[in-house]
Amino acid sequence: LDIIQAKNYEDMSEKACEIMVDRLNALINPILGFATGSTPEGVYKQLIEKNKEKAISFQNVMSFNLDEYVGLKKDDPNSYYHFMFQKLFKHIDILTDWIHIPNGVAPDLEKECDEYEQLIRDHPIDFQILGLGVNGHIGFNEPNTSFSSRTHIVELDESTRQANARFFTSMNEVPTKAITMGIQTIMESKELMLLASGSHKADAVAKLINGEISESFPASALKNHQKVTVIADEAALAKA
Ligand code: F6R
Repeated sequence: LDIIQAKNYEDMSEKACEIMVDRLNALINPILGFATGSTPEGVYKQLIEKNKEKAISFQNVMSFNLDEYVGLKKDDPNSYYHFMFQKLFKHIDILTDWIHIPNGVAPDLEKECDEYEQLIRDHPIDFQILGLGVNGHIGFNEPNTSFSSRTHIVELDESTRQANARFFTSMNEVPTKAITMGIQTIMESKELMLLASGSHKADAVAKLINGEISESFPASALKNHQKVTVIADEAALAKA
């Protein structure tokens, strides 16, 4: 793991944006993997600015998102589809046809997973952004997910549902299932960048940096990858 220390959320976002600008300009047809959640929002804001300034273009970019809730339609304000369009896609020059997000309301969810996995196999991801769950999840791969997992349906941990409940009006509305790229799918990305900010991530970051590689802590799989950058702020690194 290559670890970059940032001062705070803003600084983490800037450093992450800088790396992405570099990669976007180096690759001819970049294939990017996006994450949702609070962590990458700042990076997306900055990417929008860079795109407006014409420092980067998304016209040749294909994208794959890590995950989506099962049961939420695209236009549901809590769907990851909606999140990505509001926070990034509608503000940049990316081609809508080249955006991929798992369909959480597909009639056959198993088939949806297999087809999503196959699309990624046909278009290997150059650069994947990751957040970190307080329980060490990446994507929605909760503790004890097999490192050989591919895109699959998961039962969300109670802790994950609680962590995400802030976006919903009540705990009952938080979906219980999601579609997520598997750990093996994520590991096949050519390059990965994991972001972490805030004291609530400090235990998870310490475990990632100092702990063993174990399926009980999904993010630890990243230590087996040859090109991973972790950008974490001081609060998130406080226990490492
Ligand atoms: C989101 C995702 C999750 C989040 C993680 C951290 O697409 O895959 O693994 O990255 O739950 O979420 P935040 O950033 O909200 O703390």
